[in-house]
Amino acid sequence: MCGIVGFNGHKNGIPKIIKGLESLEYRGYDSAGIAYINNERITIKKEKGRIKNLKDLITEKENAYLGIGHTRWATHGEPTKENAHPHQQGKFTLVHNGIIENYMELQKILKDKHYAFISQTDTEVACALIDYYYQKDANIKMAILNASKQMRGAFAFGIICEDDKETLYAIRKTSPLIIAKSKDGNFIASDVPAILEFTNEYFLLNDLELAEITKDNITFYNEELKEIKKESSLFEGNLEASQKGGYEHFMLKEIHEQDEIIKNTIACYYDGTIASLDKSFPDLTKFNKIDIVACGSAYHTGLCAKSFIENYANIPVNVEVASEYRYKKCFYDKNTLVILVSQSGETADTLAALRKAKKDGITTLAIVNVVGSNIAREADYTLYIKAGCEIAVATTKAYLAQVAMFSLLAIYLGYKKGLIQEEELIEINKDIKNLPKMIRKTIDNDLYFKIADQIYENKNIFFIGRGLDYALCMEGSLKLKEISYINSVAYQAGELKHGTISLIEKDTPVIALSTEDELREKTISNIKEAKSRGAKVIYVTNKIPEEKFYDEIITIEKIHPILQSILTMIPLQLMSYKVAKNKNCDIDKPRNLAKSVTVE
Ligand code: G6P
Repeated sequence: MCGIVGFNGHKNGIPKIIKGLESLEYRGYDSAGIAYINNERITIKKEKGRIKNLKDLITEKENAYLGIGHTRWATHGEPTKENAHPHQQGKFTLVHNGIIENYMELQKILKDKHYAFISQTDTEVACALIDYYYQKDANIKMAILNASKQMRGAFAFGIICEDDKETLYAIRKTSPLIIAKSKDGNFIASDVPAILEFTNEYFLLNDLELAEITKDNITFYNEELKEIKKESSLFEGNLEASQKGGYEHFMLKEIHEQDEIIKNTIACYYDGTIASLDKSFPDLTKFNKIDIVACGSAYHTGLCAKSFIENYANIPVNVEVASEYRYKKCFYDKNTLVILVSQSGETADTLAALRKAKKDGITTLAIVNVVGSNIAREADYTLYIKAGCEIAVATTKAYLAQVAMFSLLAIYLGYKKGLIQEEELIEINKDIKNLPKMIRKTIDNDLYFKIADQIYENKNIFFIGRGLDYALCMEGSLKLKEISYINSVAYQAGELKHGTISLIEKDTPVIALSTEDELREKTISNIKEAKSRGAKVIYVTNKIPEEKFYDEIITIEKIHPILQSILTMIPLQLMSYKVAKNKNCDIDKPRNLAKSVTVE
């Protein structure tokens, strides 16, 4: 999704803005641009493609104390130079992240007022609308607020006005934007990595709050244009954490961090006693039904949670994709808990689902990584997974930390309902203690890369499994598709023969997962059905079978079933990574994908 960086300060801001944009590359983009004030003039430079193309347009001589930069992830109109931001209309130049849903309606009105548009974007309409209000009463802040109130949808804007070349303005509704303070000047940015090299002190804006940013001051206003005071926050992570630290890709670095992350996530909530969980979690024992709502990989962690919570706490769990949930009839009541899962805490559909549940008076719990994000702030209760900054678009460590959080939640609910007994808790605690070491051992295995070398030229790759293993197959298959562009399908092992088996030919890779004892025999029968049609079977299991019905076997350590998925996922992450590497794919920034999807 689009990235915004702006600076107003005492030193040349252009390199700072470009650096900031580079650190937001992970969000996904297809063009980049910058506008800056130099010698009293506003200069705009933009180009399609990578930030490097934009850099080539900027000479070393160029120097500006105030500027706004943008990486665009196309929504309205193709990724062309004309559609790239910043856009200019009348006295205003701006960058935008989000979608203005009523832009066509507004454009029609503005065309009647003689505004002409050169791009296909909703952003240019927003810019013209602000200018239109400004022409009426020559008040910049009022114009921005009036225009923002007219726009439906989600937006974050960085704005400069020709009549006030000393000030940078920012406003947001739903889309993320932070305002940061450093000794050399002040910033706006879509996300914290953009400012970390310069400062870790930042402010959050609520919907329709406006920031007026000069070199030395930041003033905040509410939607009635009354000045308001805000407390700043300090980002706890460091710059190093958002850099590659010697790894070729962020994704590989993030996979390798997983032993430490999971240790930390668990330790933040659980010290082995139920008393610690009582302290960490809100009282959730009164709920007799749970809806888990999320998108992408976060949705897949919900599928794992369904298995944990239904099996260990005997509470029915309904897992839904947020873009569907927000528009469907929901059968919830006051005894239903709606859990929203989101790494970024900004995903538009998940946020809308949260707002829908809240509006209907249903209790909401958010499981989020990014501190202070919209979903985290709006839910009734929030549990942070503490996975640190995740840069690679394809999630790994945040996915695993979400799964770990759900394991803890299931342990808590299961114990409270008397379904997990003291003896079982002792077993679980033993495994939790060893878990970081087991994760490390699972990561440090070069077999996955060897297998990836054998399968990366295939056009189709299948993942099959039953129960919880099927939930993991969904994520394994998504990981592969996202970063390697290989078509891959996850199937319930028993369902394969009802159609999809017709796609299996000689040497079609079938990655078959079997970690649940009670389902193993059935899964093995399904694997044999695929094998006898020529499949190349890669068997992922925690129990070495006596019979050889596979071509390759990946054995992972056996651990308490409530924790097993944490280990099982790792080989799938690393195989996908190596397949994508062999295919020379842009692993950290796969084509067309965005890390934080702030549009519907
Ligand atoms: C995008 C990302 C996925 C992610 C999904 C949900 O599609 O590419 O990796 O799983 O959004 O994101 P969230 O931040 O809500 O977990």
